[in-house]
Amino acid sequence: MARVVVVGSINMDLVTETDQFPRLGETLFGKRFAQYPGGKGANQAVAAARLGAEVTMIGCVGADAFGQQMKAILAREGVDTRWVSTGREATGIAAITLSAGDNAIVVVPGANHELSAADIDRAEQAFRDADVVLAQLEIPFATVCHAARVARAHGKPFFLNPAPAVALPDELLDLTTLITPNEHELATALQTPGVDWRAILQRMPGRIAMTLGKEGAYYATPDGQLVHQPGFAVNAVDTTGAGDTFNGALASFWHLGMAEAIRRANAAGALSVTRPGAQGGMPTLAELERFKSNHEKTRTP
Ligand code: RIB
Ligand code: NA
Repeated sequence: MARVVVVGSINMDLVTETDQFPRLGETLFGKRFAQYPGGKGANQAVAAARLGAEVTMIGCVGADAFGQQMKAILAREGVDTRWVSTGREATGIAAITLSAGDNAIVVVPGANHELSAADIDRAEQAFRDADVVLAQLEIPFATVCHAARVARAHGKPFFLNPAPAVALPDELLDLTTLITPNEHELATALQTPGVDWRAILQRMPGRIAMTLGKEGAYYATPDGQLVHQPGFAVNAVDTTGAGDTFNGALASFWHLGMAEAIRRANAAGALSVTRPGAQGGMPTLAELERFKSNHEKTRTP
């Protein structure tokens, strides 16, 4: 069982469904409203915990109802919330509009932006006990860099899911054991628009996996080979959090080697989109095994 420390955001997702996206200045009637637990950090923590990892979350919520609910949800999933602090600002929210299979998201970070280097230092014991440290970019950038340095100081692998997309300084890339952008994030992270992503992948042998949504992922082997690990076909209901499920699974299964970890992460990501909400549909280990073996059966001639 892998021990995973997640340094990241905790949001309440406020989700509306409409037939079409509203235009500027327009008021539309929506079809449905729902509130789901979210935030890339919390989502990745829950994904890993459902798959059997021992997960510690380092984050910050507000002193409000969403904050209490989010902490309770994480705890119910078996995530250690000792290092989830309470800030002065409101709990982060994501206003998500879903329409015809697409989404548009506005994130208000609130308390997530209060997560500091001091919070990381306070949780140093968690780094000492970790097998993998996993972060995203919905908390202050300086805090992510600090977490990467603390992980390095303890000799722990540091995984960075560079989402949402920003340009990444070399220092952070150098501290990163594995980076997991999608195609858009890869171009932004490395500020290389128009540069062939295959060339970039090969420049980071063994240290990069690029997600491709339902097409699965590409990764570069330690000897610089580019491998495509195909995705799994499912009936998608809500793709929010699919990338987070991939990342949580990847950290949980890292010890099995890149190829197998990515195969399982693809399967977990696929299952996650079959139910509404970022965390709805994230599989348990048993559900993942069943899905994989069914899939293998249908592929065997
Ligand atoms: O990656 C999906 C997540 O991004 C959502 O849960 C939302 O909170 C946003 O942060
Ligand atoms: Na889902």
